[in-house]
Amino acid sequence: MTSTRTHSVIPVKTGIQNMCYIEIPMHSIIAIDGPSASGKSTVSRKVAECLGYVHVDSGAIYRALTWQIIRDGLAGASPEAIARHLPSVAMRFFVEEGAVRFAINDVDPGPAIRSLAVQEQVSAVAAIPEVRSWVGEHLQSLTPFGDLVIEGRDIGTVVFPEAAFKFYLDADPEERSRRRYREQQDLAGDEMNPAEVKRALLRRDACDQSRSTAPLAMAPGAYRIETTHLTIEDVAAQILAIIRAVPKHRLPKAVERDGFKPFVYHISRVFFLCYLWVFHRYATHGRKHVPREGGCILVSNHASFLDPIAVCCNIWNRHIYFLARDTLFKQSRFMKWWAISVGTLPINRTKGDIRALKEAINLVRQGNMLCLFLEGTRTSNGRLQPVKAGIGFLIEKAGVPVVPAYVSGTFEAFSRDARWVKPRKIVVYFGKPVTPVDCAVFKGDPDRHQKIADLVMARIAALDPAGSSIMASASVSVKATPDKC
Ligand code: DC
Repeated sequence: MTSTRTHSVIPVKTGIQNMCYIEIPMHSIIAIDGPSASGKSTVSRKVAECLGYVHVDSGAIYRALTWQIIRDGLAGASPEAIARHLPSVAMRFFVEEGAVRFAINDVDPGPAIRSLAVQEQVSAVAAIPEVRSWVGEHLQSLTPFGDLVIEGRDIGTVVFPEAAFKFYLDADPEERSRRRYREQQDLAGDEMNPAEVKRALLRRDACDQSRSTAPLAMAPGAYRIETTHLTIEDVAAQILAIIRAVPKHRLPKAVERDGFKPFVYHISRVFFLCYLWVFHRYATHGRKHVPREGGCILVSNHASFLDPIAVCCNIWNRHIYFLARDTLFKQSRFMKWWAISVGTLPINRTKGDIRALKEAINLVRQGNMLCLFLEGTRTSNGRLQPVKAGIGFLIEKAGVPVVPAYVSGTFEAFSRDARWVKPRKIVVYFGKPVTPVDCAVFKGDPDRHQKIADLVMARIAALDPAGSSIMASASVSVKATPDKC
């Protein structure tokens, strides 16, 4: 099994008249192929949802193209005529609710792509070599949308032969005909009897398997799952179990920063943990939301100098990097040595510090966890403060899960104006991560960095059990997404 994690270097506009170059890891692909009605669609959607990946239905693109061809009066036209027609067809893709959706020639064909007319023509259209290259190239162009679960017939064999995981779902033709018949019954207007449905399905199977270009076949290295006697949940669970059993293939191994000393970090953490327990009756909730491995950003509100230790002290199994103003490193030689040893990155807050941002992005892309205090500086009144668009830029470029954390009690214990620490209770609440898919809904929006930053801040505010925090400038509302997986 191979991994798709290769790197390419792309130019990134920083917005501060600079152009810098950042390493972009290629996203993971999970290919799920199989014949009609083998359960691919529902299973792929479920797997994508559970992993936080974006779902892609490649069959829908073949269907939409067939719909367009019928609309343009080319139903039953020769393969050459259809191939010549392709340059006049434009696809526009976008992500909505965790799936890639599209408009064809600026129109959303909706359920019409499942009509009988399309059903009867689609296999013949999909057998045309020029059509296959056209759809294949469009599919390959979707990788910037994030990690993808793509269902189809040739995803693991032709479109993404280097996919991180390949699955081939199959089922007995009788069972597949029954499933297809049930689906058809839900489609108003298309009346078919079970025998007709079975004949059409077998005809399509034969066409998909016998075409000369990219016929339906199991990819080398694919896992075959026989779904005849399994429920959708069983199949999805088998796929997730296989993927989760080999997480090391998917996640880049963490590469620690030069100067970081794990011993100093953990000794310091245990020291501060004891202090928090004894003096502040310290507690944390929702630690299951903090990934055990892989690049990730932890984002928190900022009320006190106690926040960094409150956020990281109870996370035993991994190390967390912080950004801290560079003046901290100049206070004394010991302070500088300690800050570097525990993995703190200096940032110059008086100017846009591109070097520090690049280093932070690269660290999380190399599999590390970074903690950011979104508001930049400690609150003066205990309330959440507005957050700047730069954080949204960093989150978008990092392309990793963002875990929201709400720290309560640190303002009461040691606010920015306090002279002495008070023994107030400190509790940290971790929430469900905001994924790159959640952020992709703002793709193309010129204000997307501000909207991403506001979305993350709203998730932090939603964790406050007292509900007393007020967002001064949130442009998005909090949307709770139930944790189904
Ligand atoms: O999965 P589906 O039934 O929506 O697919 C519609 C048609 O498109 C079907 O005839 C097979 C074809 N197809 C293909 O040839 N290659 C793919 N990757 C996906 C679908």
